[in-house]
Amino acid sequence: MKIFKNGNVIVFTFLLAIMAISCDKEEKANSTDTVLFEMAKDTAGYKWFKNSSSLLDKSAGSAHPQPFLRTRYNSVAATMLDTNGKIKAGSVFPEGSVVVKELFSSEATLGRFAILYKSENNENADDKGWVWGYVNADGSISESSSNKGKSCTGCHSQAGNIDYMLMNKFF
Ligand code: HEC
Repeated sequence: MKIFKNGNVIVFTFLLAIMAISCDKEEKANSTDTVLFEMAKDTAGYKWFKNSSSLLDKSAGSAHPQPFLRTRYNSVAATMLDTNGKIKAGSVFPEGSVVVKELFSSEATLGRFAILYKSENNENADDKGWVWGYVNADGSISESSSNKGKSCTGCHSQAGNIDYMLMNKFF
């Protein structure tokens, strides 16, 4: 009987350990998306592409479904912009850069954020140090950063990109 009891305790402890490990894993994947979402919502100190917050019609090259967009750069990323608010040729964005494309499903409705965050040591960073976020305006995840931008980087590597950026090429 005593052995059974101990056995149960061991099995129970084992199950708890497994639950703790899998919870931890899930939270890590989610926490990067949450961090990206919080960064994307905070507009303080950002500069707009071409110095304009007006909505643009999405380009022909865009796979992003929403018809309107505008793109902004945090103060670190904005060091790569010239006086016209376009990205300087040959730029490699520094650590801590955040680029947020706001995707509008109508002129009045912000539908989604597409986010690029330069954070080389982030577990979700790709081999250029970018973390790719795709989060709906209500905070639900359209594509998790744990995918490391695998559905994004192919298109964003096309000729004319600057450190993956495509705004210059299309606007
Ligand atoms: C088939 C091509 C294509 C795919 C796939 C794609 N994008 Fe884009 N993306 C574009 C184009 C083109 C632009 C320029 C603006 C526009 O027309 O939407 C852009 C712009 C952006 C920008 C603004 C910064 C810049 O200058 O590029 C971000 C951020 C972004 N995309 C994130 C993403 C994320 C995240 C994914 C994957 C979930 C993704 N993109 C998938 C084509 C693509």
